[in-house]
Order: sequence, then C-alpha cells, then structure tokens
Amino acid sequence: MFKLTLATFAILLVVVASVSATIQHYYDHSVYRVRPSNVMQLSMLQKLVEDGDVDFWREPDQINRFADVMLRPDNKDKILKFFDDNLIAYNLIISDVEKIIERERNEQLAVDEQLKTRADARPHNEAVAGFWKKYQNFNSHANFVAKLAEQNPEIVQKVQFGSSHEKRPLVAALIGEKPNSSKKAIWIEGGIHAREWISPATVTYFAQQLVNLYNEKDPTVQDLLKYYDFYIVPVLNADGYEYSHTNDRLWRKTRRPSTSKPTCIGADPNRNFGYQWGGTGASTNPCSETYRGDSAFSEPETRAESDYILKNLKGRLASFIAVHSYGQYWLYPWGWTSAVTKDDAKLNKVAKAAVAALNKVSMSTKFTIGTSTNVLYAAAGGSDDWAYGSANCTYSYTVELRDTGYYGFQLPASLILPTATETTAAFLELASSIKSAK
Ligand code: ARG
Ligand code: ZN
Repeated sequence: MFKLTLATFAILLVVVASVSATIQHYYDHSVYRVRPSNVMQLSMLQKLVEDGDVDFWREPDQINRFADVMLRPDNKDKILKFFDDNLIAYNLIISDVEKIIERERNEQLAVDEQLKTRADARPHNEAVAGFWKKYQNFNSHANFVAKLAEQNPEIVQKVQFGSSHEKRPLVAALIGEKPNSSKKAIWIEGGIHAREWISPATVTYFAQQLVNLYNEKDPTVQDLLKYYDFYIVPVLNADGYEYSHTNDRLWRKTRRPSTSKPTCIGADPNRNFGYQWGGTGASTNPCSETYRGDSAFSEPETRAESDYILKNLKGRLASFIAVHSYGQYWLYPWGWTSAVTKDDAKLNKVAKAAVAALNKVSMSTKFTIGTSTNVLYAAAGGSDDWAYGSANCTYSYTVELRDTGYYGFQLPASLILPTATETTAAFLELASSIKSAK
C-alpha cells in the first residue's frame, strides 16, 4: 500500500513536472503604465524596447502618451528605480499577470463544463453560439471555416492560401455570391498577433453573421455579398496563436527561429511586411517583441498572405482590415511615418461611419480614430501600410478591439460576444459606406 502510494506519487510528480515544464508562468509579473514627459525620457523608454528585455504591451512613442510595460519579479525593482531616477511617471495597472491568466483559464474550464452538461439536447444554432463563449484554439478555428463552407456551399468556400512555419494550414473563409475576379474584395486579417485572442473570435463571429443574415435574406447583407467577396482569415499567425494556448499566454510573434540568433524565436509579423520594411518602430534585435524579421516577408505567414493578395486580389481589393487588440483604436495609414496619405479624408470618413455604427450597438465603447502613427505609435512593416502602399487598397485599416487596458490581452470570454457584436455592426457599415462611396 505504502509502496503503491509512493510509486503513484512519483509518477504523478513526473507527469506534473513534464507538463508544467513547458508552460510559461507569470507569477508576480506586473504591468505598469508609464508616461514620458520629455524627449530624454521617451528615448530612454525606447531604448528599453530595443534592448528586448522587457515586454511592452503598448510601446512608447510620443511625449505625454502612455506606454504599458510588463515587469518581472527579477527586474521590477531595477526598472522602477530607473523610472524614479529619471522622474518618469508611472502607475500600476495589473498587479499579478498570472492571476488574470488563471482567471481566464478558469473561465474557459467553466464554459466547457457548462456546455458539456447541455450538449445533447442542443439545436445546431446554439451549438454554434457556444463557439464564442470561450476562446478557441487553432484547430477549432480551422474546423469552423471548414464547417461553414460545408454547410453553406453556395456562398462560402474554404481557401488555403499557404502553410505556417510549423506546417499549419493558413485558411480564409471566402464568403460571397458567385465569387469571381470582377467583384470587389474585402480582406479581414485576424490573429496576426498571437496573444490578441479576441481577434480570431471576433472575425469568425463576423463570418457567421454574414452567413446567417444572408440566409435570413437580410437585404443589406444580400447586396453586400453580391458586390463583395469577403476573405476572412481567423488566425494568420497560426503557430504563435497555438503556442499562446499551449505554452505561453503572452506570446506575440511567429515561431520561426531567427537566422542570426536562433535561440530567439519568432518575428513580429506586423513588422515583417515589405513596405518601408525596417523603418521606425521595428526592432533589429531578434529577441525583441517587435523584431522586424530576418528580411521583409521572411515569415511564411506574411509571405503567403501578401502573395495571395497580389496574385488574386490586386486591383479589386476595396478594403483590408487587420484586427488586433487592445486599445479601442480605428487606425489607418500611415504607420511608418507621421505624414498622411492623399486618401486621409476618405479613410477618416469611413472609419467614423464604422465607429458610429459600433456605438449604436454599444454606446460606451469609445474608439479613437486616426492614422496609426499619429494616434498610436510609428511602426513600420505593418500589413495595413503594405495593403495601402503595395496592394493598391485605399480603405486599409487596423482595428484595435477592446479593452483599454483593464484586462488587456486577457479580455474575459464573457466579453467575446459583446465585442464581436459591436464590431460586426462596424464592419457591415464599413462595407456599405465604401460601396456607396464609389
Ligand atoms: N498594435 C499594432 C502593432 O503594433 C498597431 C499597428 C498599426 N499599424 C502600423 N502599420 N503601425 O502592430
Ligand atoms: Zn497586435
């Protein structure tokens, strides 16, 4: 009896150790909001970004504009002292990152339980709605697209436009009536940054709503699907996204080891696009969270997306929407310079219409509208700048979904549907206003 217990215990230990060994924990990690108030302070913070030792959840860009930085227990005192010594103002916004990850994990498990107990008697629609009660992993997004196409063959096709570094299929749901090359197209890029889980959840909800509304003969959506082919990519950064579910909740980059320093894994895919690649806000350090990559389009994911668009959609891409979190911003080019494009007024007008539609659904979700560089920060090599600059797409946007920093990336799963619903209203309005602007 004693022996058995010991043996069982030993096995348990090994199992626990081998499972937990690969999981990145964030015990006693905290997030601070810092505000540089002069050029000196700003450049000191930007040097911290470049060093790549701390994870900026939101990067410092301008004087008097805040940045969010996560500190580890081993560097917290040192870095806070550095802020103090240089009179950089800061305040604590998240005191224990592991706790909010745990909270999120428990919420996911609770939803699983809840769905399990009601599994049998559930009609199909409700089974679908269950999809947005929790955050889904990579495979369930892939299955979602496959199923949507299978069940709605007249208007949905699954398009595989490439494979990730780890050979996951990169897929889009192509939604439209009789897709063809004389129609306008709208490309929606979800999940380019791994930890921004609300993005894939929101874009799949939008895909489902397009289909549901079309099937219900909603006149607006019927018109939209006659006019446009929507390409909706749930998870562009397939490997990073999966890794954020299995190993490190706060993973952002791709998973391909860099050539110059293979111990540092991944590039920031949203610094890897070949338009003004390597400019401001893109790091040359492979260990940085904003590493631009070994070369433009060094990552198979960004290359696959851009190749597909150039080959199939050039000249007919009416809009490109990159979906991120967090911050509640509706952004447009440029992201590499503070200069504005010749289409600034048009871009602003459609963004305002989209946000107004969003606010009809949720009045209290406030969005800031403007060019990426002017309202957020300069960051070259983004997909939005590339779509505008290289793929000839006027209405190119980056949307930062909820929230404004209270939960940050770990937006509770109970807020998926509210976020997805308001964003769906915005996307529908965006598509309609572009169509009538022509
Ligand atoms: N949070 C996004 C990022 O850091 C914003 C991108 C805006 N677009 C841009 N081209 N900088 O990637
Ligand atoms: Zn992002």
